[in-house]
Amino acid sequence: MRGFVFGLITASALVLAADKSSSGPDEVSLPENYQDEFLNYLDVDHLDRKRVRKMYVNREAHAAAVAGEDLPDGTLLIMEDHDATTDADGNLVWGDDGRLIALDAITNIFVMEKNAAWTTANGHWDYAWYLPDGSPRPDASFDGCFSCHANRADRDFTFTYWKFVSDRKR
Ligand code: HEC
Repeated sequence: MRGFVFGLITASALVLAADKSSSGPDEVSLPENYQDEFLNYLDVDHLDRKRVRKMYVNREAHAAAVAGEDLPDGTLLIMEDHDATTDADGNLVWGDDGRLIALDAITNIFVMEKNAAWTTANGHWDYAWYLPDGSPRPDASFDGCFSCHANRADRDFTFTYWKFVSDRKR
């Protein structure tokens, strides 16, 4: 279905180029300095995959989310994947805090952005997937982003962020 929609967009690119309401991975932002400027609200350890995921949200959206009922227009959620530190035998190494230790290198960057001007299968969210150097992942497919995150429609299509905000409000 999405393939069909993309075909349509290509065919009418001239018309849509001027249409700011169209969305798609190209429209989803990846601010260069998000690691410094965004709030790193959560790190998730995945023992099975020997991976640490770092979650970020833009601060102005976060302030509005905590103060309001809904996640605001302009919410930008970024999830970085890092391999976890292992020893010479490939076994996980634990930090003093009992958590996995993320290597500095990023392996993948996943982004979801909420823009009131967009209407997608998942409300006003669209998705993007970047390589560590910030370029779009060439073989990316986005059907899975939509279908899997649709399982959390009652939490505005987010797995971790809605919960983080609800916990702050209590
Ligand atoms: C099979 C299910 C699944 C698919 C497919 C999937 N996600 Fe997720 N996503 C998750 C889960 C579960 C989390 C919570 C983090 C974790 O436990 O790894 C998450 C978290 C996120 C987050 C952090 C905010 C949040 O909702 O917690 C972003 C951003 C994100 N995913 C983007 C994407 C993008 C972009 C794609 C497609 C390229 C995608 N996801 C595909 C299940 C999925």
